[in-house]
Amino acid sequence: MGILIRNGVLVTAGDTYRADILVEAGHIKAIGANLGDGSETVYDAAGKYIFPGGIDGHVHLAQISSRGTALTDFSTTVAALAGGTTTVIAYATQKESTGILDSLEQFREEQIEGKSAVDVGMHAYLRSPNENSLAEFPALAEAGIPTVKLFMAAKGSAVHCDDRAIFTALRKAKECGMLVMVHAENSDLLSVLQQEFVDSGRTEPLWHGRAHPEVAEEEATVRAILLAKAAAAPLFVVHVSCADAMRRVREGRQSGVRVLAETCPHYLVLDASRLALPDFEGGKYVCSPPLRDAANQEPLWRALQESWIGVVGSDHCAFNFHGVKDLGKGYFPKISNGVPGMQDRLHILYTYGVLAGKLSLNRMVDVWTTTPAKVFGLYPQKGSLAVGADADIVIFDPEYSDIITAASSLEGIDYALYEGFVRKGRAEKVFLRGELVMDQGKFVGHLGQGRFIRRAPFGSAYDAPAL
Ligand code: URP
Ligand code: ZN
Ligand code: ZN
Repeated sequence: MGILIRNGVLVTAGDTYRADILVEAGHIKAIGANLGDGSETVYDAAGKYIFPGGIDGHVHLAQISSRGTALTDFSTTVAALAGGTTTVIAYATQKESTGILDSLEQFREEQIEGKSAVDVGMHAYLRSPNENSLAEFPALAEAGIPTVKLFMAAKGSAVHCDDRAIFTALRKAKECGMLVMVHAENSDLLSVLQQEFVDSGRTEPLWHGRAHPEVAEEEATVRAILLAKAAAAPLFVVHVSCADAMRRVREGRQSGVRVLAETCPHYLVLDASRLALPDFEGGKYVCSPPLRDAANQEPLWRALQESWIGVVGSDHCAFNFHGVKDLGKGYFPKISNGVPGMQDRLHILYTYGVLAGKLSLNRMVDVWTTTPAKVFGLYPQKGSLAVGADADIVIFDPEYSDIITAASSLEGIDYALYEGFVRKGRAEKVFLRGELVMDQGKFVGHLGQGRFIRRAPFGSAYDAPAL
């Protein structure tokens, strides 16, 4: 038996129109009027928007952080569903002395299968690539994991990548439909500043921010873009946090480099003053790159609206404040880096982007799901309202309003990043492959309903220069 969603206003990246949607066997069967044969379960969406399910291309779950602390696991993806996200792409780290594919296969079996509330893809988070890891790239693409993340910061750690590693990875990736993603911060600059601050007793969370200046991100962003130019390869810059790095992405694109970029909700609405909150409250907001001065926010919103940045991922990386974040009290290098974000990505974009006149509704859908689907090899199966696509569908009530609190968080930690923020609109009903799984904020599905999704090679659904 199918379902029929009637009277809603469908919003896609390119269009806004009134139509009914008929769903059968987990897929969208038809879009139009006078659909179905009367046997369907009918949902009346009058006064509501219909979005394709969200895709969060940047989450960290079920990992051990570089500070040795544990992140929340895939059962907390219920939080993503509450915010209309039906697919996440999670970083899975290559293990020491294990091949990439074997590491990721183990992660999928142990952490994802049977646990997730949403569909899941994986990005390979590499130890510094060598000949062996590069040789695995074709098999990774074949296994539906066409993305690798390289880390430019943290020289001396196993995941740090120097220019040689990045350049060789870019060249190899291009040959086999893989996309290289970089965390762009200049490692040397960061470590000199960190040492100076620690040596002079400046160890509060505020100094974490000062040890990661904007110019360190800008420099590494430029370098990664030029390495991509040298390799004639595409590049994806994750979590662009400041206007100067964004401008470097824009210049790179204008000069013909296939550079794509992501920013995150926290850089759009929170600023560096949070790090200076008393009583170690600032520790809640420690992430890398850090929160920036508020003057960066308008340029980032504009970059989203004007397509210089095409993706908003949450960089969800959630730790308890008590017992985890506060291990770094009195010594910022020990603070577990990362903030939660899976639940409120849509709410921040809608309330502070669309309703504030900074982002059109279509553009919101684009950066929230459609471009992520295209870049990460999920389109048109996901990220679109189209006949044949997975029936990942959100009925969004634009009239709903509440206040974000830790009590309403489903992220599995003891604080809310956006505590006290007004949240307008909500994903009233969320369907995952045609099943109603979230209803009025209540999870009505089951853990384990999420499937591992094999993604298509980079470029199969997306032509970056055309953007
Ligand atoms: O602080 C952050 N963003 N932690 C997550 C790991 C990363 O580098 O994205
Ligand atoms: Zn990162
Ligand atoms: Zn991250």
